[in-house]
Amino acid sequence: MRISVAPVPQEFAGGDAETGIVVVDVFRASTTIVAALAGGARFVLPVTDVEQAMRLAEPYARNEVLLGGERDCQRIEGFQLGNSPREYTREVVAGKVVVFTTTNGTQALAAARESGTIFIGCFVNFSAVADAVAGFDAVTVLCAGNNGRLSLEDFTCAGGLVARLAKRTAQLDDAALAARAAYGALKDDLARALVSTEHARRLAGLGFRADLEFSLRVNSVPVVPQLRDGRIEPLPA
Ligand code: MLT
Repeated sequence: MRISVAPVPQEFAGGDAETGIVVVDVFRASTTIVAALAGGARFVLPVTDVEQAMRLAEPYARNEVLLGGERDCQRIEGFQLGNSPREYTREVVAGKVVVFTTTNGTQALAAARESGTIFIGCFVNFSAVADAVAGFDAVTVLCAGNNGRLSLEDFTCAGGLVARLAKRTAQLDDAALAARAAYGALKDDLARALVSTEHARRLAGLGFRADLEFSLRVNSVPVVPQLRDGRIEPLPA
């Protein structure tokens, strides 16, 4: 198996049909998509801009669709939901289509779009998403990062996936080696290490500390979202 990590979307080199791609945005887009599907949303439509989100929602009846996402970490005006995974409960999302746009997470999904088989990963579905890509000849973990800069929480999660997937014969690129080393250094106290990252501090300052706790509960939501033909749906369990 060949394993590579793109620390930011700008470093993503694409991948052919045989490549399993895991898009990681721990705080919070990947975690929120997992929560939405676990809550019974019909599917999630990820888009990069707000106008496009509104257009996509238009054809649906009002009680069929929810607009979700953020700009500057806050719910977008006119949207029913923000980007807190805790908002996407069964009571709110079951049976609904969620049209979703965020600053970095949905941009990373757009970067991945034309390549490989695309999954969404984070800590809450860590083992399940690792199992989903374990049979591929090549795996790329695409970290959403933060406006083109590395996010330690995404990079560390990528490193955890590398550590879990890499057998002795695996070929790792340098970013995968570095990510695995970061995970190795932090894994004994992940939660403490990752609540002090730049984005975590920003979210905590805005009152979203509980989202950090939700996002760092490893294997708490074993749902694997897959992006296919513009739609995110859960892999059958
Ligand atoms: C993003 O996609 O940039 C993040 O999920 C931002 C956030 O935490 O709301």
